Amino acid sequence: MPDSTYCPPAPGRISLLGHGPALLRRPLSFFEATRTADPLVRVEFGPVGLFLANEPALVHRIQVDIDTFERGRFFEALAGNFGNPLIAASGPPHRHQRRTLKPTFSRRSVRAYTEVITDETEARIGRWQPGRAVAADQEISDLVAAVVLRCLFSTELSHATVRDVRETMYAISRRLLPQTILPAVLGTLPTPGNRRFTAAVNRFHATVDHLIRERRAAPGQHHDALSALLDTRHPDTGAPLDDVQIRSEFLILLFAALETTSTSLSWAVFESVVHPKVLRRLQDEADSVLQGGPATYDRLTDLVFTRKVIDETLRLHGPMLFTRRAKRPVTLAGVAIPKGAEVGYSPRAMHRAADLYEAPSVFDPDRTGPDDGTDRPRGAYFPFGTGPHRCLGEHLALTTMTVALASLAARWDLRIAPGTRRISEVNSSLPHLSSLPLLPTPRI
Ligand code: HEM
Repeated sequence: MPDSTYCPPAPGRISLLGHGPALLRRPLSFFEATRTADPLVRVEFGPVGLFLANEPALVHRIQVDIDTFERGRFFEALAGNFGNPLIAASGPPHRHQRRTLKPTFSRRSVRAYTEVITDETEARIGRWQPGRAVAADQEISDLVAAVVLRCLFSTELSHATVRDVRETMYAISRRLLPQTILPAVLGTLPTPGNRRFTAAVNRFHATVDHLIRERRAAPGQHHDALSALLDTRHPDTGAPLDDVQIRSEFLILLFAALETTSTSLSWAVFESVVHPKVLRRLQDEADSVLQGGPATYDRLTDLVFTRKVIDETLRLHGPMLFTRRAKRPVTLAGVAIPKGAEVGYSPRAMHRAADLYEAPSVFDPDRTGPDDGTDRPRGAYFPFGTGPHRCLGEHLALTTMTVALASLAARWDLRIAPGTRRISEVNSSLPHLSSLPLLPTPRI
């Protein structure tokens, strides 16, 4: 049968307006609804169109086949926020930069970071007062920011600067999905929101520029991501990266690390607190593995249930959309995709698919993990992506979340603070909690 140029539209399309209204009306369920029985569907947001892959094998192929697919609108929107870092590029510049950064994220490096992660976690949760409510989502964001800044950039910033960093990253994350699917010009209009955003980004640039200058003045004292960036040669010119390029690489690493890890950890804590049996199992495991001591690197592999809670959290609370662009004409599921077309996949839709997961919206830590006894196809579970763009920070993120969750469970009994009205899921490229007010009580 010849290739077809017809691709069925995703549900919710209105002629002329496409899927924009459906996305605006119910953003959180929009991508889940796009997963129909069709392996590939067409999604249209005004002038922007996208082929969305529904079949795990297609999702896998789009991620690994870099001869056919390069970065698309999502990464262009992301990179545009940071001055086009090499790590967000396609082809040889990306490969070069990935190779440069890899040692910073190796298991050996992460083993060395574990002490910092444990120290920061213990110090933070050790300051909590019995019976006094804490804004756990903000505590977690601050914790992750402190860990990432110390591990990757050997720096400690003031509380106010960390908050600035966090808020800027949060604003970028919220803008990412609209930037991907709406015409680019909207983000540059001089609206109050855009102006506030630009001011925050400029403040943040000044902080990073200062850090780079300090490091240049005293080189050779650290082996971290910043020193790797200072040693990097530009793949085209062979010259060292200039400060603007280093800032751009620094910012995207911070972004990649902060929102993802802190949002996922907040969800993991939330799911544990609203499922008391899960919290109890976490506590039992933390007691028997940690035995009142710190969460050292060698003990982490024994925190099997803690890891399952994290894996299940990453399944249920993943990003809405990633996109790639076809570098040449290609056929996917019998549909002829022209060169230059945008092709996407939604971790959110795939991870909540009823044909892949029983009762998909139920939080059940026993269903995920390498030993869950299921035989899911490749491309059905990919919280860190796969192929040449697989997350560089996976091991650091998993270690941070495991240490934090186990340390928390070992020390505190937790419940949602009384008087909390409603905790909801907020629409973003990575949906997050509206708030997480918790009431801690000591376990012993
Ligand atoms: C729970 C936490 C995290 C999750 C769920 C996550 C998820 C992902 C995913 C899905 C991708 C692939 C994107 C794509 O295929 O287009 C990715 C890429 C990436 N992540 Fe993470 N990430 C997390 C934490 C981190 C951390 C802590 C870092 C550290 C800086 C990091 C750095 C990166 C980088 C540099 C890439 C781009 C890799 C490349 O294109 O070669 N991530 N991440």
